[in-house]
Amino acid sequence: MAISGRLKPIEHDAGKDEHRLKPTLSWPHLIALGVGAIVGTGIYTLTGVGADRAGPAVIIAFAIAGAVCACAALAYAELATAIPAAGSAYTYTYSVLGETTAWIIGWSLILEYSLACSGVAVGWSGYLVGLIESAGFHPPQWLLAGPDAGGLINLPAVLVSMGIAAMLMAGTRESATVNIVLVIIKLVALGIFVAVVFPAFDPANLHPFMPYGFASHFEAGEKRGVMAAAAIVFFAFYGFDAVATSAEEARNPGRDLKIGIIGSMVLSTTIYILVAIAAVGAVSYTVLGGSPEPLALALRELGHPVTSWLVAGAALVALPSVILVMMYGQSRIFFVMARDGLLPRRLAAVSRRTGTPVSVTMLTGVFVSLIAAFFNVGEIAELANAGTLLAFISVGACMMILRRRSPDLQRIFRCPAPYFVGTAAIIGCLYLLISLPEKTLARFVIWNAFGLVVYFLYGRSRSALASHIVDAAA
Ligand code: ALA
Repeated sequence: MAISGRLKPIEHDAGKDEHRLKPTLSWPHLIALGVGAIVGTGIYTLTGVGADRAGPAVIIAFAIAGAVCACAALAYAELATAIPAAGSAYTYTYSVLGETTAWIIGWSLILEYSLACSGVAVGWSGYLVGLIESAGFHPPQWLLAGPDAGGLINLPAVLVSMGIAAMLMAGTRESATVNIVLVIIKLVALGIFVAVVFPAFDPANLHPFMPYGFASHFEAGEKRGVMAAAAIVFFAFYGFDAVATSAEEARNPGRDLKIGIIGSMVLSTTIYILVAIAAVGAVSYTVLGGSPEPLALALRELGHPVTSWLVAGAALVALPSVILVMMYGQSRIFFVMARDGLLPRRLAAVSRRTGTPVSVTMLTGVFVSLIAAFFNVGEIAELANAGTLLAFISVGACMMILRRRSPDLQRIFRCPAPYFVGTAAIIGCLYLLISLPEKTLARFVIWNAFGLVVYFLYGRSRSALASHIVDAAA
């Protein structure tokens, strides 16, 4: 495999780190960690956007996105144990495909992590506003939504983003106990939703099942079809990389990571499909479609206002933890890119007082807030997904290339049927990517073109590997 360029040597460097984390987590913790990071706005809010794009067939969209993510998750798990260093897809790509590709993946991961925070913040705001309004209060509309949703600025979304950034700057880390409590709140709320809504299931609501067909195409002002919906609800599945990157902390990584990643994916996919069936079976997809808080709306429509407050309350309490995990993940990626010399090292500076990377977290908080203030959740999720899909494509490719190139490398977890799973991940992600709206793809290309300019003007010559070129062909 003659890929030239700078390759970061694979080092099992975790052991050298003086801050090496203690291996204290077992698979139940990892499943909780995964579900904690995965279940969020994707199911609480994008179910409505997906129903708008695909009709009742949003159920199939969840199944497709889940299957593609499961393949990517298996490849992730193998790479996480073969290359157990911080930086996830960026680091794997740096070691396997070289620096320039790694830069593009790192730059795309900024979209995944930052825009996931913005998307969850906007979803959170939708539930807050719904709750306040259903209690009879009507604050000025212009403060509650971005311009395309009839407002000027989404202030609640800005406040929650800045609040979480401030917590991270002050040194808040996820606490396993708090996480487990939040996971239980989220899952119980979704369980209650299904239990209360399911009895109202009416098969007539499922007709027509696929009003916009399967393939993504432009219709009635939007990209529609099952694949267009899958390309959006894909947002609901990521976050499992939080488990992959905790390899260092797993007691028995071979067993725990496998069960942790696959377990959290299977659990989330099952829950999502049940919630989607309950929602579109009980309430017309045309009603769910336009709502910023579709689950609460469905409950109100069916005459369960108290349960709707409970579900909205659970979303308000639990969704900020998804922002916390994703914003923390973002600062880790920036940190590793800066340590590699590709971004200014100042960004990686850790405050002496709090022990946290304050500048990079503040920068992330401002970026996340600006996007959350002015864009709608669908647009945000689509762009975040574009970045994530590219990273997953790279992960699938790196897993297969590394199998060929370094068959003897220690892999605590080995992906089953690696070439089939890797290829399925790549093809699935490519299909989802091209199912996104052209506007999103254009924004994604512009983002990466800008990124490459930054790389060639700044990072390339300052890279820590600049004087130490390792060629894969050598
Ligand atoms: N998967 C996360 C969510 O749905 C990003 O909120």
